[in-house]
Amino acid sequence: MKRYQTFGVTSPEESQREKNHKQLAREAAAEGIVLLENNGALPVLPGKIALYGPGSRKTVKGGSGSGDVRERHSVTIEEGLLNAGFTFPTTLWMDRFEQKYLSEVAGWRERVEQSIRGYGPARTMQMFFKVGEQPMPCPSCTPILPDELTDETDTAVYVLSRQAGEGKDRRVEKGDYLLSDLETESLKRLSEHYKKLILVLNCGSVIDLSILEEVRIDAVLFYGQGGMEGGNALADILTGKVNPSGRLTDTWAKRYEDYPCADTFGHRNGNLENEEYSEGIYVGYRWFEQQNIKPRYPFGHGLSYTTFEKTVSAVSGQEAITVKNTGSTAGKETVRLYVKKPDGRLDHEKRSLITFAKTGLLSPGGSETLTLPFDLWNISSFDETNNAFVLEAGTYTLYLDDSQCGTVTLSEEQIRPISRHELKETFSERVQKLLGTLSDRDKAKIVTGGGYPLTAYNQVMGAAGRTCTTLLKKGVPNIVLADGPAGVNVVPFVTMLKIGVPGYKNGLPEDWRWGWVKKMEPILKFFSKGGTDIYRYMTAWPSETVLAQTWNTDLLERVGNAIGTEMKETGVSVWLAPGMNIHRNPLCGRNFEYYSEDPLLSGKMAAAVTHGVQDMGGVGVSIKHYCCNNQEDNRSAVSANVSQRALREIYLRGFEIAVKEGKPWTVMSSYNQVNGTYVCNSRELLTGVLREDWGFEGVVMSDWGATDPCSHAEGINAGNDLIMPGSPANAKELYENLKAGKLDREALNRSAGRILELIFKSETCKDF
Ligand code: BGC
Repeated sequence: MKRYQTFGVTSPEESQREKNHKQLAREAAAEGIVLLENNGALPVLPGKIALYGPGSRKTVKGGSGSGDVRERHSVTIEEGLLNAGFTFPTTLWMDRFEQKYLSEVAGWRERVEQSIRGYGPARTMQMFFKVGEQPMPCPSCTPILPDELTDETDTAVYVLSRQAGEGKDRRVEKGDYLLSDLETESLKRLSEHYKKLILVLNCGSVIDLSILEEVRIDAVLFYGQGGMEGGNALADILTGKVNPSGRLTDTWAKRYEDYPCADTFGHRNGNLENEEYSEGIYVGYRWFEQQNIKPRYPFGHGLSYTTFEKTVSAVSGQEAITVKNTGSTAGKETVRLYVKKPDGRLDHEKRSLITFAKTGLLSPGGSETLTLPFDLWNISSFDETNNAFVLEAGTYTLYLDDSQCGTVTLSEEQIRPISRHELKETFSERVQKLLGTLSDRDKAKIVTGGGYPLTAYNQVMGAAGRTCTTLLKKGVPNIVLADGPAGVNVVPFVTMLKIGVPGYKNGLPEDWRWGWVKKMEPILKFFSKGGTDIYRYMTAWPSETVLAQTWNTDLLERVGNAIGTEMKETGVSVWLAPGMNIHRNPLCGRNFEYYSEDPLLSGKMAAAVTHGVQDMGGVGVSIKHYCCNNQEDNRSAVSANVSQRALREIYLRGFEIAVKEGKPWTVMSSYNQVNGTYVCNSRELLTGVLREDWGFEGVVMSDWGATDPCSHAEGINAGNDLIMPGSPANAKELYENLKAGKLDREALNRSAGRILELIFKSETCKDF
């Protein structure tokens, strides 16, 4: 029997696969950029341009934390513009900023090193968690000095950047949600000096744009975080090579205070223990419309370099919309249909998104008819008194964007009570046989992740997790689980030594060079002679918000295909993505890792990516973080106190769509509590809703360390099959809990069986 196997390629050259996926990443990034404002300044032909702002040379390609990717190379905005044929009469501002940036990086490294002093090998994981909690802050900008202006061009681009990530929410402070004084000053100065000023927002999520009321800015683009090809994609949009077709998936308020829960969200009211979801179902545009608050940009907003005319050619269940390009530039358009429910017993939002579609590239004068099937149950109300979904009787009015375009009438109320199906778990013969040969101790190990061992049957360095690695001789190989969602997050270069241990002859990956691990580097290099060099250069995709802004499920499926291909190339079996929590408030530090404020859109996007990955065969996804992980401060303890109605209609609905339509292999339970119970210990959420209501048949895994503050055993009892990342101590504790009667034997068997099924359907174990 093989002791280990290795995946990845042995040539350091950029492969054809990398080139193809780069192309797709560029297409996706360009299609996800939203043109927020344009007074005619765009498009602009390549020529001389003045470029400023932290994101120009130090473009933020994605957020920080587990969702990072170690790609071969990221194209910055400066580089993208150069590639497109732009030239910069002055780079003085960028050069000076770079100096400041480098010294800030050095200072930050020093501070982080101080904070992890005293962490030895036994606390390596905790050490890296600590490092992860302190991402390099986006350096504040420097003023624009007179000698940094140029008269050789009348057009300036300013790239404003923000960084955010897991473990920390954003703040309504200058330099974060608000523009800093220096940013405001810089934009004023540029606006005075240049005839045309283009503002590029290189941030993961919404920021305050009150500046537009003060300063003349000719065009504003929400570039977001565009992944490794972002710089090229932006150039495509600026020059008009690609006509912007991205549309917002969130409402951008005029002022932060306009959002629901503005004052109570997370840290804002000082209560990080309990988060009251008092706005109920009124999240995002549902809130703004109900309160009659005019946002700066509504959900779905986005400009184009052309114009479209939309006509409804059929209604009532078989909507068909013809979109005609009435301008002089080729372009794509998104069509969104909303439904207004009839007035009835239950309060409800003014309207909700029911379906959407996107045209192909329409040449001037060209048209396309899109059919938009929909299912009214996707916007049904949850009636708490009867514990049922309802579609009340009456007329459902359809809106094409803002215009009424049809109706559907239900003469009687339709009710779908919550019906729980009995779990009928049947395992394959192979798994049944294997389960019969395994001891209780073995099963306790199977339901516990493999931790971070040096060797494993399938070992992909840098991957976030693996299943149990110590039962190989008993017929249980392990599989590898890697983050997500910005790409497949693994270490790009290792040397596989003959004994199956990875070596680092070229040094450790940059993000491992911390604390005691960094001190070991010379020794590791010394012992890394010989062996096979393995390269795993993965694509860094645009953030999920940017992907959703394409409104293009076919494109997301293709991105999923590409991710599945990369997983197979590297030996990763489960991709810890897509993330699909709802953008409840713009301050959530991880919003960039999620799609939207709207559950239907989130569910459809997640289902598309899931199909894309899983259609490649032998690889699967983990939709996360199920559920209500809508804030990062105190994420591992906070209780999301939410009504059943909002839970069902807003926070679970996207997951429901993704589970039913996408059939993901696994689901990741979240760190937080919902109504006072840890999700990873909640039988109601993990078995009741997920399996008995929705028919989910895969594996549920905990988020990393999520069961630590509650109970590992209760996790298994509740239906959280796999405790991640897992350690021998966790497995031992479970075994003892089994003996003490705290861990249910049937639940243990069931979870172990599900995990074995997952392992054996993985490509990496198919020949085992
Ligand atoms: C994150 C997950 C991630 C996991 C593994 C956790 O901190 O919340 O999204 O998949 O780490 O890296």
